[in-house]
Amino acid sequence: MLFIDTDPGVDDALAILMAHAAGPVAGLGIAAGNVGLAHTTANALKLLELIDARTPVFPGAPGPLVRPAGDAALVHGANGFGDTGYQPARRRAQSEHAALALLRLSREHAGALTVVALAPLTNLALALSLDPALPQRVRRLVVMGGAVTGRGNTSASAEFNFAFDPEAAHIVCSRWGPFELVDWELCQRHVLPFGRFERWLEQGDVRASFYAAISRKVRAYSRTQQREGLVAADALAMAVALQPDLVTAAQTRALAIEMDGTLTRGASVVDWMQRSGRPASARIAQEVDQRGFERQVAAALGVEPA
Ligand code: BDR
Ligand code: CA
Repeated sequence: MLFIDTDPGVDDALAILMAHAAGPVAGLGIAAGNVGLAHTTANALKLLELIDARTPVFPGAPGPLVRPAGDAALVHGANGFGDTGYQPARRRAQSEHAALALLRLSREHAGALTVVALAPLTNLALALSLDPALPQRVRRLVVMGGAVTGRGNTSASAEFNFAFDPEAAHIVCSRWGPFELVDWELCQRHVLPFGRFERWLEQGDVRASFYAAISRKVRAYSRTQQREGLVAADALAMAVALQPDLVTAAQTRALAIEMDGTLTRGASVVDWMQRSGRPASARIAQEVDQRGFERQVAAALGVEPA
């Protein structure tokens, strides 16, 4: 059973579709990040309505723990869904805070819950601060975040999810214990090639047409970056969460988050040479079975296998 903490967000949306194509989801915790919490919550509800899923939606923290941070509206659009106008969902979000919902669900599904973190780690840090025993009840934690050799997407050195709330990333990465990391640099090596992906957007069902609309802006943006395809970071993390054996190479290392640097705030500092003596708790995926990843994406858009 999955619990997804997310800030939809165009790539979050694909990940949420993939999760629901694979099975029921215990809940969506919602964070601020790509855009503000009101938009990320409304987007999650709309997507679930589109696929007629009853997954509960739990809004969480409205911003980072300590210092304010800029959003990613430049990439995801001011509403987080590519500025596609849509009729808001009829369904409402739950009143329970995402952090409290995660704690409750981790008890109800003790030992069986996989937490997939696709957003700044604010809600997870809050949950972990309230109950440090949380990781003992969670089967796996898969995090999308960081840039493990320092090639960031938000600053020169930091990736967006960690840069948005470095203190939260520090709390989770230093206190959780073993977890799995899908970082930005891996995602850049595993893009969705434009030609194939855009064919799926035409061939698929209602999910594909909705996704074609909300991803139009980000696809145009990606083309200006001279990329060969769409970087769908959260989708890759979800693929790994759903199918762990997609990871064909990984290294387990100590990972620390820089909170003070003027040039490096939010950077993920990996102890590659294992000099620090700190526990190696991050299993960093290095390569993924690309075809397996693409199969999951196509299925989530309603494309019949060839
Ligand atoms: C991450 O940042 C967000 O913009 C995406 O949704 C993804 O979670 C990639 O750095
Ligand atoms: Ca995200």
